[in-house]
Amino acid sequence: MSVVGIDVGFQNCYIAVARSGGIETIANEYSDRCTPACVSLASKNRMIGNAAKSQIITNFKNTVHGFKKFHGRAFDDPFVQAEKPKLPYSLHKLDNGNTGIKVRYLEEDKVFTCEQITGMLLTKLKETSENALKKPVVDCVISVPSFFTDAERRSVFDASQIAGLNCLRLITDTTAVALAYGIYKQDLPTPEERPRNVVFVDMGHSSFQVAITAFNKGKLKVLSTAFDPYLGGRNFDEALVDYFCEEFKSKYKLNVRDNPRAVLRLHQECEKLKKLMSANSSDLPLNIECFMNDIDVSSRMNRGHFEEMCAQYLMRVEMPLKVALEQSKLSRDDIYAVEIVGGATRIPAIKERIAKFFGKDVSTTLNADEAVARGCALQAINSLLTCIVLH
Ligand SMILES: Nc1ncnc2c1ncn2[C@@H]1O[C@H](COP(=O)(O)OP(=O)(O)OP(=O)(O)O)[C@@H](O)[C@H]1O
Ligand SMILES: [Mg+2]
Repeated sequence: MSVVGIDVGFQNCYIAVARSGGIETIANEYSDRCTPACVSLASKNRMIGNAAKSQIITNFKNTVHGFKKFHGRAFDDPFVQAEKPKLPYSLHKLDNGNTGIKVRYLEEDKVFTCEQITGMLLTKLKETSENALKKPVVDCVISVPSFFTDAERRSVFDASQIAGLNCLRLITDTTAVALAYGIYKQDLPTPEERPRNVVFVDMGHSSFQVAITAFNKGKLKVLSTAFDPYLGGRNFDEALVDYFCEEFKSKYKLNVRDNPRAVLRLHQECEKLKKLMSANSSDLPLNIECFMNDIDVSSRMNRGHFEEMCAQYLMRVEMPLKVALEQSKLSRDDIYAVEIVGGATRIPAIKERIAKFFGKDVSTTLNADEAVARGCALQAINSLLTCIVLH
């Protein structure tokens, strides 16, 4: 039996396992260590992960993604109501008032709970682990955002049970990252010495989390946590989508918003463009063939313009950093390093803002995509050993 750590992201999931040789991240059947948080329900079968992602456009009404934040939320919650018109699939109010997801599956109209959808995703991640490790996987540790409420955590826990997993613990994303950092540091101060204070910043697809942690050998203390639960890479994609929708309306007389498939295609292209802009500051093209009504569309964007468009989001980077620093009661000089993880911290303007706030360069010692899962794997081994000792 093996015990794994699972990072269930808004967009991407990773699984890691602690083995005698160290921590390994597990690859799926596509040799990809990232499994998209996507479930596609069809007339004859269901697809999960990479296979589901390829159905996002063709089977848009029944391909569910971006559901992580519906965990434990009422259908009437303002966040759910604000998301609803933007989703290609339908939401449905469940009898208990929670958010359900309505799809057509096996030729029938079905409403799934968020726990069931995440349960399907976790079932897939369990299978991926079992195929890679060639043994049954039941025990696991799963990460949740630090701002998740008890109801939201409970809901993720219930999803793990649906998948036949035994979730030993849920830990927060930033604690997992801190564990992944601490394990390989041989030169941490002894318990008698002044601790080493490290800031961990994680910006994923949907949220922004910060934690300040004090390290001594064998000891980790979280001094403060702060977050903006609604700031992440997807805000930057949406800013680009909004911009091009307007441009294509005037340039090609296309009402992109009226066509869900076109919106989804534009989203995919905008995300690619955003990533390209992280590495290039020059003008970059956006071309989509047969976009709508057989019209090919094209445009250009560059990093400078993109940053202007996203000023409202970039402005929000500072506040959680400030809150975390104040709550930790440390000054900037007490900070040893600022470690960044999460895909959206690759945006140069985000890195710059974090570095400017702390007055030091950001460090990228950790694997930005896999650090959370790796920390979960460490916690998993730890929790399992504690269980064995206690029983
Ligand atoms: N090179 C890059 N430049 C800009 N953004 C990037 C780059 N690489 C990845 N991203 C963005 O990072 C985000 C995904 O990051 P990550 O996998 O950490 O999110 P997640 O863990 O699924 O989400 P969350 O932590 O909010 O649940 C996406 O918005 C993606 O477009
Ligand atoms: Mg994440």
